[in-house]
Amino acid sequence: MNETIALENRYVLQTYNRPNFVVTGGEGVWLTTADGGRYLDGGSGIAVNALGHGHPLVLDALKKAMHAPIHLSNLYHNAPMAHLARDLCESCFADRVFFANSGSEANEGAFKFARKYARVILNRTDKTGIVAFSGSFHGRSMGAVAATATEKYRAPFEPVMPGVTFAEFNNIESARAAITDRTCAVIVEPVQGEGGVTPAAGEFLTALRRRCDETGALLIFDEVQCGVGRTGSLWAHQQYGVEPDIMTAAKPLAGGLPMGAILMTQAVADAIQPGDHGSTFAGGPFVSTVARAVFGELSRPEFLADVRRRSDYLAQKLNRLAEKSPLIATVRGRGMMWGLVSTVPAADVVSAARNHRLLILSAGANVVRLLPPLIISESEIDLLVEKLSLALADVG
Ligand SMILES: Cc1ncc(COP(=O)(O)O)c(C=O)c1O
Repeated sequence: MNETIALENRYVLQTYNRPNFVVTGGEGVWLTTADGGRYLDGGSGIAVNALGHGHPLVLDALKKAMHAPIHLSNLYHNAPMAHLARDLCESCFADRVFFANSGSEANEGAFKFARKYARVILNRTDKTGIVAFSGSFHGRSMGAVAATATEKYRAPFEPVMPGVTFAEFNNIESARAAITDRTCAVIVEPVQGEGGVTPAAGEFLTALRRRCDETGALLIFDEVQCGVGRTGSLWAHQQYGVEPDIMTAAKPLAGGLPMGAILMTQAVADAIQPGDHGSTFAGGPFVSTVARAVFGELSRPEFLADVRRRSDYLAQKLNRLAEKSPLIATVRGRGMMWGLVSTVPAADVVSAARNHRLLILSAGANVVRLLPPLIISESEIDLLVEKLSLALADVG
């Protein structure tokens, strides 16, 4: 057996089922393996590698970042973080940002800020409830997992953070009933990722905004998976014309280095004092230098227009594939984020795709999920769909 696989099997905690190859390199949308394989990456490290692998802009930013201190601690000012904070805030509704290291950490911070807001701005110690939705995924830490709908992620670790109620996603009546005067925050993914690649209905997000305003709850958009260009607009919620009070982001922010961010309005920021929250590594100069370069590219209007053009092409091809394949019941998604609802286990399609040197993901039991790098070309889209079609034929 390959030494890497043997070592992982022996020493690494077995929380993932990994396929039987070792990735050693990557360029563009391609990943190469130790045994000479070349795979088309249709998952981008789960929506992280938006610029693909080995992108010159990321490599140059890494070289530049080496000349700054790698770590400073948040006890001192650092210019890359300050500039990145401005870039992020100027890209959307936000006035301020808190940096974190992951999506889970960003959501934990968002919950803390919402509770502090209710306590000090609204003067309510009893307004602590959080409403989340069926199909949601917000992370694995004790607060984030408490707001994650899938029971198997949550139940073995209970008691998790108390105070979370679940309503039905895209059901306005269910949401209105769950959001009460005791709710301090409502958290929702504008396009659900892990739960099956399901876009929120426009009326649903509008109704959430209205109900939050009625009850004094803060609206949190979790754009960890759907944000930063993934859906064809810089932020997914910008396609809906509904603004949150807080937004969390992570995955693609720093080109593959760990970074999360909590963006918020000044009204939320007013509740937070020095010492209320912190994070040792977050927003360090190294990661912020790279993030600034990556965000500069991903937020460029011409870049986003090109993503939309190529994602329309991908959408057309997927819909055509679904018309031909009895194994695909529905195609849904936005931009470069697609879910194919399959009539067979999604895991079987993912595994068959691997045999055709295509790496894709599942999102639940029966949704095949595609999250290719945003830079994927039309000819690479052709190849992706061709490989997917071969995989479906094998399963069917
Ligand atoms: C919507 C969403 N929120 C939060 C998370 C958790 O992010 P992380 O794994 O970086 O903690 C994920 C991860 O898949 C996600 O998709």
